Amino acid sequence: VRDGTKRPLVGVIDDGTKTVRFVIYEAERSEELVSYQMDKTEVQPQEGWSEQDPLEIMHHIKLCAENAIDQLVELGYTKDDIVTLGITNQRETTIAWDKYTGEPLHAAIAWNDIRTDSTVDAILAKIPDRNKNYFKNICGLPISPYFSALKMRWLKDNVKAIRRASRDKRLLFGTVDTWIVWNLTGGPQGGMHITDVSNASRTLLMNLETLNWDPILCRLFGIHRDTLPQIRSSSEIYGTVKDGSILDGIRISGILGNQQAALVGQNCMQAGQAKNTYRSGCFLLYNTGTRRVKSTHGLITTVAYKLGPDVPAVYALEGSIAVAGGAMKFLRDNLRLMKDVAADTEHIAAQVFSTGDVYFVPAFSGLYAPYWRKDARGIICGLTAFTTKNHIIRAALEAVCFQTRDILEAMNKDCGMPLSKLHVDGRMTSNDLLMQLQADLIGIPVLRAQAWDMSTLGVALVAGGAAGVWGAEAARATHSDTFLPTTTDDDRDARYTKWKMAVQRSLGWATN
Ligand code: G3P
Repeated sequence: VRDGTKRPLVGVIDDGTKTVRFVIYEAERSEELVSYQMDKTEVQPQEGWSEQDPLEIMHHIKLCAENAIDQLVELGYTKDDIVTLGITNQRETTIAWDKYTGEPLHAAIAWNDIRTDSTVDAILAKIPDRNKNYFKNICGLPISPYFSALKMRWLKDNVKAIRRASRDKRLLFGTVDTWIVWNLTGGPQGGMHITDVSNASRTLLMNLETLNWDPILCRLFGIHRDTLPQIRSSSEIYGTVKDGSILDGIRISGILGNQQAALVGQNCMQAGQAKNTYRSGCFLLYNTGTRRVKSTHGLITTVAYKLGPDVPAVYALEGSIAVAGGAMKFLRDNLRLMKDVAADTEHIAAQVFSTGDVYFVPAFSGLYAPYWRKDARGIICGLTAFTTKNHIIRAALEAVCFQTRDILEAMNKDCGMPLSKLHVDGRMTSNDLLMQLQADLIGIPVLRAQAWDMSTLGVALVAGGAAGVWGAEAARATHSDTFLPTTTDDDRDARYTKWKMAVQRSLGWATN
């Protein structure tokens, strides 16, 4: 036990796209005490499809919790020192299961899966002018394969077992938080079918004003209300774990989508503050307070958090980028340009002073914000006989930065006031070269968080808050380094113009 004082502990389950983690925080300290992580299996049965195994998620959670608790015991604590649990998760990924047997009726369809391309077209055919932004006033989102309602519609259209379960009133839908809570709280024996507002706001079915399922949207997508979870706040005592696992008996008191959780972890809790999280994708969230700002420049409006049943929701404008770290993984696994993303990317990219005018648009599954073009596909352009893998890897890093600039340009226009600094977190931020390129390409200081993982800290704060174990002083996030821009406006604008030319070339590549 550190400094001889035993403080209450908060456990966090983090289900990300690639990994499951269990992290334990000590109240009043914003550093993790112990953690354990496991990789997940991603299945790609067809091009553009991305599936996960819902049972593997639950299996990994249990193993990660057991291993983290073993480490805790070595430090002199016991499992009973964990007073509450928070859950943070990859958003939009959708699971369908049988409420009486608990069996998943299909693999989880991941957020970046684009099988629903034609489902989008079928839905757009029912909307005036096929306008993908037609319902943005209600739910803050464009019609895109990214969001859960499209995945639910696809499951109902294509999976017999799901149609049958729907007919027999056995079907339950959920995002990953919902699946986890339902299983932890008893599964078929009275599991709670709930979600929080931040996750619900990613389904395309929630009304941002009422914070409830919207009847018009449920009708449009043909999703019955009784298959959807109850929408709760992000911070309240929902229930207790009753699954016979090592977590049995612990309360659950916080749920936040992982990007909203990072906003809280970075302490961007005032309107006007923003953070960018660099993981497999990249997600920039700008806190707009209790005001719902409607973007006219391609961003989405989302719920940031609601810190209790009786307090108002706080909203954010979000710029979602589908591929950030994912491009490095592509260069490692598909093109075999490096062996280890974390160890090699920075070193190899630093062998050259520029990309040699090479631009890489990693639009593998179309482009999200601010373009929302499902017909875009990846391109690498500007190749010459002089180009090496060093230039291409550096161009992949710059692509992350240019995509962030795309979002910032849109955000500045929507908010009318340019952002003066950018808080950053996520595993990729340990790459100093990426951080410097980011500052150089957006022209404002980049403030790196003191730890890469702000999502688990964020949900630990909201879970601990509801359980009364964590005071407000805990939310004082600090940053470890600041990267200042070293380029001129002219230089960065010239490079950005080239980036925009590259993006134009990627649009419309996947014509149906
Ligand atoms: O919206 C998708 C996002 O939540 C994915 O998270 O785990 O890939 O960083 P992750």
